[in-house]
Amino acid sequence: MCGIIGIIGQDNVAPQMVDALKRLEYRGYDSAGVATIDHGRMDRRRAEGKLVNLERKLAAEPLAGSIGIGHTRWATHGAPTENNAHPHFTGGVAVVHNGIIENFGPLRAGLQKRGATFNTQTDTEVVAHLIASLLEEGLAPEAAMQAALKQLSGAYALAVMIEGRSDMLMAARHGPPLAIGHGDGAMYLGSDAVALAPFTDRITYLEDGDWAIVTGSGVVIHDRDGAIVQRDEMRSSTTATVVDRGNHRHFMEKEIYEQPEVIGRTLSHFVDFAEARIRPLDAAIDFAEVNRLALSACGTAFYAGSIGKYWFERYARLPVEIDIASEFRYREMPLSKKDAAIFISQSGETADTLASLRYCKENGLPIGAVVNVSESTIARESDVIYPTLAGLEVGVASTKAFTCQLSVLAALAVGAGRARGTIDADEEARLCQALAEVPRHVTQALHDLQPQIERLSHELSRYKHVLYLGRGTSFPLAMEGALKLKEISYIHAEGYAAGELKHGPIALIDETMPVIVIAPYDSVFEKTVSNMQEVAARGGRIILITDAEGAVAAGMETLATIVVPKVPEIAAPIVYTAPIQLLAYHTAVFMGTDVDQPRNLAKSVTVE
Ligand code: F6R
Repeated sequence: MCGIIGIIGQDNVAPQMVDALKRLEYRGYDSAGVATIDHGRMDRRRAEGKLVNLERKLAAEPLAGSIGIGHTRWATHGAPTENNAHPHFTGGVAVVHNGIIENFGPLRAGLQKRGATFNTQTDTEVVAHLIASLLEEGLAPEAAMQAALKQLSGAYALAVMIEGRSDMLMAARHGPPLAIGHGDGAMYLGSDAVALAPFTDRITYLEDGDWAIVTGSGVVIHDRDGAIVQRDEMRSSTTATVVDRGNHRHFMEKEIYEQPEVIGRTLSHFVDFAEARIRPLDAAIDFAEVNRLALSACGTAFYAGSIGKYWFERYARLPVEIDIASEFRYREMPLSKKDAAIFISQSGETADTLASLRYCKENGLPIGAVVNVSESTIARESDVIYPTLAGLEVGVASTKAFTCQLSVLAALAVGAGRARGTIDADEEARLCQALAEVPRHVTQALHDLQPQIERLSHELSRYKHVLYLGRGTSFPLAMEGALKLKEISYIHAEGYAAGELKHGPIALIDETMPVIVIAPYDSVFEKTVSNMQEVAARGGRIILITDAEGAVAAGMETLATIVVPKVPEIAAPIVYTAPIQLLAYHTAVFMGTDVDQPRNLAKSVTVE
């Protein structure tokens, strides 16, 4: 969360910084700001809300200067006002920050005792004051930076600019990512290679604890002890092309409709469709030898992992522990050398998922990553990458990344089953054929269901609360359906295991709370129908998502029945995702919310 940019160039850098911030807006859009040094004087423009507000300000009052830092904010400490927007200035020091300075309270109290006046409610402002006070004591900028970093605890990616020093920027990384870009006659720093892609593809990633002095001609990197270190320069494959929405109203809609293609692309990375078998898996995790698999992720990726658990246990008879990463990192799960761990993350930068990965690494487990961003920190720190080939996902609510995560996990579970001898070649072929059909079924579901779901969304938008129910793999999918609906339409929604309903949530049921039931006609269908009867008996209104056989077999009155193509069990969670995404999308559009950038959210969650 929060995006950082810094440039030392030859021309005015403010327009370039805005360009980079546009590419970083997925990391937060509460406020934005840029600062430059022009003729030795530091100045800034900041604006509350989306970047477009900052652009307007800059158009009215341009900023000159060939060195600058910029920021797009996801508020942690302090309201998303212009006054709390970065860059923060004090005593000739400008700072932009991604992360949380956890000891900002005691630091601020100490600085205030020594006469510092704080102007914002942010944690970041202490960094500017700290460096300024050290400069005042007579330290050189490099020494002040190093001394200040020693006093900070928490997570940070920082860029610092000093008035009167238009020849250098300082940067530091402890947690959130920070990349240095090597240009021709210009140097850059940014939260990721995507931000720097229009300027350069020559990237050096700072490692945890590193801090750096960036000048127009290069970078000197120090490790946490101050020793000068060499970090590899690599060629980033990130494209500078700005993706557009095409003919779609929102990125989310575009990304929903891209799914057949990207699911197909992802599946064919793992499945040899001609031979109907799983391609050989990387030996870094030898599923035949693993006793237990730990899966860990956040949000939508956690729900993908929760579905993956059913598959690994069913097809590979491999016990799986699935955890929300923010819990896993602190619950001190006992781990053994016969365990393996897989982390699931679209961005590859989620702070809690990364911390969980590091915990498993310290315990000697082989680490796999199901990631969409191949140059992300999680990808770089894993022993094996199982890529989702969803392409850039812009909509803050994850759609195509989720179905690609499911595709990878399904293929891995089948591969693990073969490796462990729990399924034979015929069963593998049958499952691979089922997966081969998924893109076609998703296409059909999206096409056939859209008109009905769009109409239904008008009805759904009248309610304040919605319940999603499902059994088996449809249970995590129910939670994903509820998450999608609440995060973009702001309708309160919860997902429950259908059998759990009578243990409490049934008290909520009346005609004002529709219940969306995900129930393919499978081995647990009849059980789910019993739960639907319990809802109907209490005046609850049901929206049933099922297939043609299920629609007939349910034999009960519903508010609506959404009929999905009939698919084999392994394919169902992927195909049934289409209606739940469309339902959330059309409801949000009808209600007029900001579908691609819902309030309070960010695409990359780099703080815990
Ligand atoms: C919801 C959503 C989030 C993310 C979560 C993890 O639509 O997108 O719940 O799934 O923040 O992010 P990644 O996958 O980047 O680790």
